[in-house]
Amino acid sequence: MSKEIFVLNGPNLNKLGTREPEIYGSLTLADIEKQCMDKAASLGLTLTFRQSNHEGDLVDWIQEAAEKKAALIINPAAYTHTSVALQDAIKAGGIPTIEVHLSNIHARESFRHKSFVSPVAIGVICGLGAQGYNLALDALATHLKQDND
Ligand code: DQA
Repeated sequence: MSKEIFVLNGPNLNKLGTREPEIYGSLTLADIEKQCMDKAASLGLTLTFRQSNHEGDLVDWIQEAAEKKAALIINPAAYTHTSVALQDAIKAGGIPTIEVHLSNIHARESFRHKSFVSPVAIGVICGLGAQGYNLALDALATHLKQDND
């Protein structure tokens, strides 16, 4: 398994920093990208970090990750709760995936309790803010190492 990781972020996450900071924290997406880059470097992983407000972009990038045999960390944002297309893309690509949410989706509105991505993820991290991305990188590094042993 390659040591390349795609970190994909869904709609409205480009507004982090100013978007409902009481829910999502005060870090910007650029801050989280830098945090992920530093963490990936310390783990010897190569990182591609992207955000889109468009579901099809996320599907294209999941397919790209699968072609590169990369692993995936995804915060699908609102598409978590609606997107069969994201579930299909992850499943079809057979990509080791960790789902991340900044907020605890289970402590929020009931429409956020269902995730279309969780059934095809290795694991889910939510409610731990930006730290969740670092924890996901640690988890994937361990998973990829086990795959290589
Ligand atoms: C989110 C949770 C989603 O319910 C919401 O639509 C988001 C962000 C999170 O990171 O907490 O946009 O994925």
